Amino acid sequence: MKSGKKEISVGLLGCGTVGSGVVKILAGRGELIRARVGAAIRLAKVADLRPEAAAALDLAEGVFTTDAFSVARDPAIPVVVELIGGEGAARKLILEALALGKSVVTANKALIASHGDELFKAAAEGGGELFFEPAVGGAMPVIKTLRESMAGNRVESVFGILNGTCNYILTRMTREGISYATALAEAKDRGYAEADPTLDVSGMDTVHKLAIVIAIAFGTRVSYGDIFVEGIERITPLDIAIAREFGYRIKLLAIAKNLGDRVEGRVHPTMIPKSDLMAAVNGAMNAVKIVGDAAGEMVLYGPGAGMMPTASAVVSDLVDIARNSLSGAKKRVPVFAFQPRNIGSIPILPAGEVETRYYMRFAAADRPGVLSKISGALGHHGISIQSVHQKGRKSDGAVPIVLLTHTAGESKVRAALAEIADLDVISGAPVLIRIEDPNESA
Ligand code: HSE
Repeated sequence: MKSGKKEISVGLLGCGTVGSGVVKILAGRGELIRARVGAAIRLAKVADLRPEAAAALDLAEGVFTTDAFSVARDPAIPVVVELIGGEGAARKLILEALALGKSVVTANKALIASHGDELFKAAAEGGGELFFEPAVGGAMPVIKTLRESMAGNRVESVFGILNGTCNYILTRMTREGISYATALAEAKDRGYAEADPTLDVSGMDTVHKLAIVIAIAFGTRVSYGDIFVEGIERITPLDIAIAREFGYRIKLLAIAKNLGDRVEGRVHPTMIPKSDLMAAVNGAMNAVKIVGDAAGEMVLYGPGAGMMPTASAVVSDLVDIARNSLSGAKKRVPVFAFQPRNIGSIPILPAGEVETRYYMRFAAADRPGVLSKISGALGHHGISIQSVHQKGRKSDGAVPIVLLTHTAGESKVRAALAEIADLDVISGAPVLIRIEDPNESA
């Protein structure tokens, strides 16, 4: 910050979609931001390996460079925004900037989830701050809400639709009955997906975000590899149509529950009642439902990706850094909501110990005794069936048998499913989709 001029110089690393949005906000809303902060936030340098990235941005002479490290090391730049992504150069650049005492804003959820300890240690040692609001839920203030607004609550649970690509695909499959592959191609065309869309559809992008949410909501260290994950790749229009008959929608849901001595953390396609607010979150939109013991149930809804929404979250972090710096109140709010010495290591409940309700679909031979074999296997593993449905005959003679269970343990369900899959009357792999329905008792 320059004394007298009240100006905070920022270096932007990565000028792709979100970076361009940051340039636009800082250029177009400079006076508004100055009025809120009490100082100007000035884009001093913009770095990108592709000179053409800057062409459309109308940057002042000398602002653009292809050398990101020169920006991270520039003593005249106290604040750096990392929007390069990935875990290579981005990590090195952030570490360099933090070691020099700079504050950093990043949208890099994979990096925070996998190298968070190292990065936050570097921030603590360097004396700067590391902010990451744009990493979870785009424009939605998920981090700020959990960190600040819920400070008087024991957070009981958090449910999130945190990946726009998956939500877009599932919405298109639900509304139009199109295949997964067609919907994925559309999502790529619209630019929602990560550079590697496997991160989206496998659920890993959501896992990265959920790991951050769990740490802040429950005050615990979390290793994202402990979070159970299943992607949307095997969801079919048939299961979506059957779910609809039962009054459910299928969403890729991030689920975090505070069990006291354990934390439940899982990401998988989930059937939720169509009356649930989260079921109305369609297209590339995101939403997060936070349940606090004082606040009750609260839902944030908004664009979870894209140029201006994500840039909006970046700028909100820049404003926090600027205000903290101007008031001499750096680190007033602990990054993970709890004072570092009060952050625990609450284990994630092993996936096999999760208890929920299940939808199962089998392709079965249509002949006497088949149902009794399936229900026998489930009974043998102590799984109680809520309802059974036979869904018409396929041309190959196989018939889809659908079962909904009462609440059951995951490990028992998996054992029963393996036993059923081995039956000679069953063809193909059984389909298993978990149900989160607060209206249904066990
Ligand atoms: N690929 C991500 C999504 C972008 O689809 O939600 C935002 O993290």
